[in-house]
Amino acid sequence: MNTFSLQSPALVLLGLAFATSVCGQAISTLHPERVIGAERCEKCHTQELQSWRVSQHARSDSIHRDPKTSLKAKEIATKMGLRSVNEIATNQLCTECHFTRQQTGNVLKVIGGVSCESCHGGAKDWVDVHGDKEKIASHEDRILKSIAAGMLNPRNTYQVAENCFSCHVARDEKLINVGGHPARSEGFELASWSQGEVRHHFYTNSVRHEKENKEVPQAFKRVLFTTGLLLDLEHSLRGLAAGVQKGNQFPFRQAMGRRAFAIISAELPAVIEKLGGDAAPAELKQILAIAKATNLGGDAATVIKGADDIKAQIEMFGQNNDGSGLAGVDGLIPTKLRGTPFQPK
Ligand code: HEC
Ligand code: HEC
Ligand code: HEC
Ligand code: HEC
Repeated sequence: MNTFSLQSPALVLLGLAFATSVCGQAISTLHPERVIGAERCEKCHTQELQSWRVSQHARSDSIHRDPKTSLKAKEIATKMGLRSVNEIATNQLCTECHFTRQQTGNVLKVIGGVSCESCHGGAKDWVDVHGDKEKIASHEDRILKSIAAGMLNPRNTYQVAENCFSCHVARDEKLINVGGHPARSEGFELASWSQGEVRHHFYTNSVRHEKENKEVPQAFKRVLFTTGLLLDLEHSLRGLAAGVQKGNQFPFRQAMGRRAFAIISAELPAVIEKLGGDAAPAELKQILAIAKATNLGGDAATVIKGADDIKAQIEMFGQNNDGSGLAGVDGLIPTKLRGTPFQPK
């Protein structure tokens, strides 16, 4: 089979291989020695590069220089004990989310903001494999080989989406409670935030349409929306577990707890109801049950256990759902996109 669609049952099976072969790329696991830089993608992905260059991700490396954010950046840096504003671009405390770093030999340097590889994984070992239609005839083989070589492939929504949450939901309470950094991107929702300025969708079933950055299929939006909500819950619980300081004066745990509570008490039950209550996918009901049984104010180990159990269910949800059966959530997916999708001239 050479063509390829999100509804392909073979890919649902591939999801299984994805999930077990590569674990999610936590922020600090973008190995700088595997980074080759966005320019290397340009020859074959001109339009993706164009869209990325005008997005805020490409400019996140100027957080300390941009007049709009430099004061705040300096304030955070000072409170965090950095020696100078320039250290923002070198200290891992900030680079892991705002920058892409590359290591060549013994030299480790920042090469830009949030980049292709921040989301798709360091490409050194997969760049030659993933698009080589001459040597590897089948698209599915190309996907499998590139994933084995460390690619975070968007066909596995969980893998690519997990990254968004590693950066958009913070894990280090000092950065928030002491540094005054936002605990999370307010209102972050996967479907609307990935389909606005972040969207770069130039293929349909392996056919490239260079003139149009198309909308992704509705079924895929449903998967994004639902997976995003589940990942939001998982990451909020992990945040909660990572925070030690309790009380109103400490915004970190407050923000994590509030978000987890909103998902458990209202948003996830609403999704389950729209998907038919008892008839809703088993993983969703299971996740709600796990979350409800987890004492959010309990010790870290308890909350981490809840998050781990939820993660296992999210992966299964990804394998078992291609979005075709999730039409019930259509009315819940926000229609207001975050930023404007780029269109080639
Ligand atoms: C030599 C050309 C070439 C280069 C360089 C290249 N790509 Fe690709 N890429 C392709 C082709 C061709 C496809 C379509 C793959 C297919 O149909 O199997 C593709 C597909 C993809 C996909 C979609 C996933 C998939 O398997 O269909 C992603 C993500 C991607 N490339 C990312 C990148 C990134 C990031 C870089 C730079 C680090 C890059 N590519 C560099 C040719 C290339
Ligand atoms: C490596 C960390 C990182 C990853 C991974 C990441 N982001 Fe971001 N994102 C940021 C940072 C940092 C900013 C703020 C950039 C700035 O304003 O300088 C940002 C900004 C954005 C913005 C624009 C800001 C706004 O408030 O409207 C959107 C939209 C966005 N991200 C969506 C996503 C989505 C969707 C994903 C996953 C597909 C994702 N991001 C993955 C770090 C990341
Ligand atoms: C866990 C990932 C993460 C880390 C670590 C991180 N940031 Fe951020 N930062 C973000 C994201 C995501 C945003 C965009 C927030 C939003 O959407 O509102 C952001 C926004 C900002 C802003 C704009 C805030 C505003 O109110 O507009 C500044 C300034 C900033 N970061 C500075 C820093 C500095 C300095 C460090 C290191 C001490 C740092 N960040 C570490 C993810 C991170
Ligand atoms: C913020 C995270 C993020 C960044 C940065 C990013 N991607 Fe993606 N990419 C995704 C997500 C999520 C998808 C799946 C959504 C989709 O297909 O529209 C995707 C899909 C793709 C695809 C397949 C699209 C299709 O038409 O099926 C290609 C090719 C790709 N990315 C290449 C790149 C290249 C090249 C860059 C750098 C210029 C890049 N990406 C930067 C998150 C990102």
